[in-house]
Amino acid sequence: MKIFVIKSSYHKESSSNYLADQFIKGARESGHEISEFDLKEHKVKPCTGCGYCGIYTVDSGKCSQKDDMDIVWNQMMSSDMVVFVTPLYFWGMAAQLKALVDRFCVFSTELKKKQMKSAMIVAAWNDDDWTMDSIEHHYETLCDYLHFQNQGTMLAKGCGTVEMTRNTVFPYEAYRFGKSLTDSGNNRRNPKNKLKVLFVGNSHTYYNDMPQLFKQICQDNGKNVEVQMIAEPGVPYSWHLEHYIDLRFALMHGEFDYMVMQQAAHPGPSKEDTLRDGETLAKFARKYGVVPLQVVPWAEQDKPEHQKEMYEIYEELAQKIQADLIPTGRIFECITKDHPEISMYYKDGEHASAYGTYAHTLCIYAAIFKEKVYGLKGAYSYESLPISEEAWEKIQETYQLSEQDPENEELRMAAYNSWDKYIVPVMDIEKLRVELDPDKARIICCTIDDQV
Ligand SMILES: Cc1cc2nc3c(=O)[nH]c(=O)nc-3n(C[C@H](O)[C@H](O)[C@H](O)COP(=O)(O)O)c2cc1C
Repeated sequence: MKIFVIKSSYHKESSSNYLADQFIKGARESGHEISEFDLKEHKVKPCTGCGYCGIYTVDSGKCSQKDDMDIVWNQMMSSDMVVFVTPLYFWGMAAQLKALVDRFCVFSTELKKKQMKSAMIVAAWNDDDWTMDSIEHHYETLCDYLHFQNQGTMLAKGCGTVEMTRNTVFPYEAYRFGKSLTDSGNNRRNPKNKLKVLFVGNSHTYYNDMPQLFKQICQDNGKNVEVQMIAEPGVPYSWHLEHYIDLRFALMHGEFDYMVMQQAAHPGPSKEDTLRDGETLAKFARKYGVVPLQVVPWAEQDKPEHQKEMYEIYEELAQKIQADLIPTGRIFECITKDHPEISMYYKDGEHASAYGTYAHTLCIYAAIFKEKVYGLKGAYSYESLPISEEAWEKIQETYQLSEQDPENEELRMAAYNSWDKYIVPVMDIEKLRVELDPDKARIICCTIDDQV
């Protein structure tokens, strides 16, 4: 569709225009045609209230003033959607944009008949809950009066400068806003100030509270993110499709932006099962506007040769479902090979250590925000299953006993249950926090930036 974007900031480096450009980028990628009108390059005088247009009688379609408002009028009438872009000035739109809107009185009857789509993008310095209340209410009133089909607003609080804006989730949200526009219907969800990410996986997902670490690092770096996790020990995609209650509810009603999919590993299901179930899962997510992202798992510490097969499976799956890959397996492989001093594995040689989880988290961050991770704040992780040497030895003993007598069901169950017996979950997140060696954290960041 044809989208007419009206920018109003006089700043050369403008936060609101920066967001508008991200919106435009997304909209262009979705095939929409954009025309722009930048108020600092045009002359639009304020309405004098002379009544020549017939505002007090019947619209005449003519204005007594001669300026660039004709361009606006022509563009609006030949477009399907208008986007108002403004800095927040004293809790309302900038005066120059308000002046332009006031001049709508010349053609408000025509505008109402047109029932065009509209949106508004606002950048403000403050980030109080109520910062945008007045402008939002004003915009909604305009939409009602002018019969605009409101496609949503991008109310970017805490965006006082371009630099501040870059450090928030809003540029990305603006891009997604533009990208999500469709020609027909008013079917987009309300743009949220929060990015919502759903993690669907198994113990490799919940070890070290990885989704929480992701949320925390996002927050430390100015990104407003909410997370939810659906994971059980060792479960493959097929389990999620069978035990669909939580998954179904989350995808249909959770308004998630992304679903991070992590298949069981060590051992994982067959390639055939992974491709089939991964595709079903991704289709279900897309049906509800959730973008799937596929994790490349990491091989067991003592079986690095498994990694190659994992690349093959997950690259094929990603292509099939047209999803971006989260290349954690590749990062584990590179670090283990080039920096053996950084232990990426938990004691069992399968799950991630605090460093492994940090790497996994940053791979997800890079895949979602398409940003470099070197220099991000927050070089820490969690260790959600801390265990004493003594307890670890006891677990090992029960496994060794079971291996010596593999047919013995009692010993097998004892080994299986030894985890629950010896590991006591810690419920205090601050006690689980691990400060990482900054040099090692930097190596992980550089490796991710090189590979992603
Ligand atoms: C005259 C003026 C009034 C402003 N009023 C507000 C305000 O009411 N609330 C707020 O949060 N920021 C206010 N600001 C800050 C701007 O909204 C903020 O810096 C915005 O990012 C500027 O966007 P721009 O670079 O696109 O012009 C004001 C700035 C100016 C110059």
